[in-house]
Amino acid sequence: MQKKLISDVQEYYFYYKNNKSIVPCLDDKSNEKAKLMLNNIYNNYKDNIPKRFISQWDKVKLYDPNGNIDSAHAIILDIDQGAYDIKNSLNYLTGKEWTKFTCSWFVFNALQKDLKEEQEICENCVDHPATYSPTMIEDFILFFTKEGMKVIDPFAGIGSTLVACKRTNRIGYGTELNKKYYDIILKRVPEFYKNIYNADARNIKELYNDEQFNFCISSPPYWDVLNRSTDGFKKTREGNGLDVKYSDLSNDLGNIADYDQFVGELTKIYLDIFDKLVKGAYIVIIVKNIKKGGKLYPLAWDLAKSLSNKYVLKDEKIWIQDKIQLSPYGYPYSWASNILHHYCIILKKEV
Ligand SMILES: C[S@@+](CC[C@H](N)C(=O)[O-])C[C@H]1O[C@@H](n2cnc3c(N)ncnc32)[C@H](O)[C@@H]1O
Repeated sequence: MQKKLISDVQEYYFYYKNNKSIVPCLDDKSNEKAKLMLNNIYNNYKDNIPKRFISQWDKVKLYDPNGNIDSAHAIILDIDQGAYDIKNSLNYLTGKEWTKFTCSWFVFNALQKDLKEEQEICENCVDHPATYSPTMIEDFILFFTKEGMKVIDPFAGIGSTLVACKRTNRIGYGTELNKKYYDIILKRVPEFYKNIYNADARNIKELYNDEQFNFCISSPPYWDVLNRSTDGFKKTREGNGLDVKYSDLSNDLGNIADYDQFVGELTKIYLDIFDKLVKGAYIVIIVKNIKKGGKLYPLAWDLAKSLSNKYVLKDEKIWIQDKIQLSPYGYPYSWASNILHHYCIILKKEV
């Protein structure tokens, strides 16, 4: 397929939208003016422009969808990628990339590429029973931060969030209670070793006394769900000598059997993190509603509610896994679903 690079046409510096197509403005005066405006943009805004634009600045064009050069504040390099607004204060995404991420759901299954990468560094990565993919987390980090910003994961596991930080040039921080998983993190992202603690997330305020973070993304233990697993997952993992729970430690949140106590302790950790975030920062918590004793405990919703006293609850984004085999739960007597979706709860520190 032919790439729609506009950069090859050197004499045009101003582009606009005409019938859904991005086209050059043919007026000489406008192009002269756009050239000067691009110079000004470079001089005054280069710290707020993605590196991919800066490194090819001679090919960057000025863009305004309505063709109004006086109010133009976007730049474009590649029509397929879309235009970047130089006033973008949240991230380095173009309008097109931004809009794509705002869909309220997405389908994501573990990627072979990620699994292979972690295996190459650390064979015992598979020991951890519940990880997410760095590739999936990259998309969140790209939306909620700019390069060089600080991202924290209080339940770092084997470091998937930190790997995503490394791939996207963000600075990763995190706590992980289990020493075995913590050691895996250090192998995967040695560059962040000073920022990562083998510690209880309840101590985050003391551990990061002098730090402030731009974003927090994590997936906490889903209550004590692993302790109760009796299905094929447990049998297969036990058969292969792999962990079926995070630890036996009494301060492991996954070992709290009482639901209200679990929600209370988790809430407290995320409220402590509130104090460590810069104003305007977002926090994403990836969690499921959980079944116990034939009853649904709406963990995602309860957590969202308990945190919205301090954070502003902004949204949910639903993560769907569509490659997991269904089990005949409940058959032939009662309703019981296969829960194959997670909630990515999105909250913001507004004050
Ligand atoms: C769902 S896993 C996170 C996995 C991680 N997202 C990854 O992809 O590697 C939850 C993690 O929280 C850790 N954990 C449990 N209680 C903790 C606590 N009090 N402080 C810090 N970490 C804790 C567990 O050991 C486990 O690794």
